[in-house]
Amino acid sequence: MAKPKLLSLDAFAKTADDVKVKTTSGGVITLICLIVTLILVTNEYFDYQTVVIRPELVVDRDHAKKLDISLNVTFHHIPCELLTMDVMDITGDLQIDLLMSGFQKTRVVDGLAKETSELRVNEYKQENSKLTNSNNPYYCGSCYGALNQKDNENKPFDEKLCCNTCESVKKAYAKAGWAFYDGRNIEQCENEGYVQLVSEMINEGCRVSGTAQINRVSGNLHFAPGSSLTSGSRHIHDLSLFEKYPDKFNFDHTVHHISFGKTIDNQEMSTHPLDGYEAATGNKNHLYSYFLKVVATRYESLSGLTWDTNQFSATYHDRPLEGGRDSDHPNTLHASGGIPGAFFHFEISPLKIINREQYSKTRSAFALGVSASVAGVLTLGSVLDKTIWTADQILRQKKDL
Ligand SMILES: *[C@@H]1O[C@H](CO)[C@@H](O)[C@H](O)[C@H]1NC(C)=O
Repeated sequence: MAKPKLLSLDAFAKTADDVKVKTTSGGVITLICLIVTLILVTNEYFDYQTVVIRPELVVDRDHAKKLDISLNVTFHHIPCELLTMDVMDITGDLQIDLLMSGFQKTRVVDGLAKETSELRVNEYKQENSKLTNSNNPYYCGSCYGALNQKDNENKPFDEKLCCNTCESVKKAYAKAGWAFYDGRNIEQCENEGYVQLVSEMINEGCRVSGTAQINRVSGNLHFAPGSSLTSGSRHIHDLSLFEKYPDKFNFDHTVHHISFGKTIDNQEMSTHPLDGYEAATGNKNHLYSYFLKVVATRYESLSGLTWDTNQFSATYHDRPLEGGRDSDHPNTLHASGGIPGAFFHFEISPLKIINREQYSKTRSAFALGVSASVAGVLTLGSVLDKTIWTADQILRQKKDL
């Protein structure tokens, strides 16, 4: 009979049935092999089911996006009326006094938020400008020389430069670079009760919270006392009221929350390293700085959902404005100058992290793993079995001699 061609390809050479011998040791080894295989395959299966997060680093190509910032900070010893917050960035854009728009100030008295008198800055202003106008519809308040009102007499009413409210006098003063103090002896402010309000607030703190969008370039967001004025590259604050009371006001604060973009739950990677941070020195003329490095991050879940957010790292630094040596770190020599306040400097990383949820193994890797463990265990078992059988044979032959 002619041999079929494929016969020579058979990798599994068979032994004749009558040469096969069954032994007890063989049985035991088979059982062990079975158990070990089962354990390995189960492990393989759990591995296959495990979801892991694989990070990937790419260059961030979304150039026109804005950066969402959300923040909640309490200043314990500076009243809301005195606190201003500005955002400045390297494009030269300046978003002055954001507290007037996207953020809220809450008065904090003795550590408790005064919910009843939450100060949405504009509320106070509107109420009082109505008052002045209702008395005399043609009222045009003096700006006390801060604005040039000389030509007013020749102008129609609509074009006159007027300071009808305390707020507008304050703005005019800031524009002229004059010290405003607390509004005493300024008719508008006395009438509106501003002077009274400021003196009431002197022992209060202020909580600032809210969200805003800023340009996605390096810059800083800072809290400082008094109205701010920018002319050219100079940015100055009116410190008159802050300095009027030498033993009051300082920038001790607690950061409740600061984040850039959405919060993602279920992450062991926290995106809010500064939450709960307290900075307190009790020093009035002190500058607190935070340096934040923001990295765009995208999460892609197994089900195909994606979230874009930002992670950041933060370093903290504070120094007294007079500069000089630290008492506890004599080798540190601080720079001097600057204004009292809290600065959040941020830098934007050009890289983006993509965190992808994936099964740790593909289906074919799982199949491969399973067959590898089955085959491996069986091979080892047969080697072991052969060895034991051979040893047994030799021992028997020696006994028979
Ligand atoms: C800011 O944080 C304080 C303290 O944790 C909290 O009571 C308050 O509700 C927060 N404000 C906002 C707007 O989230």
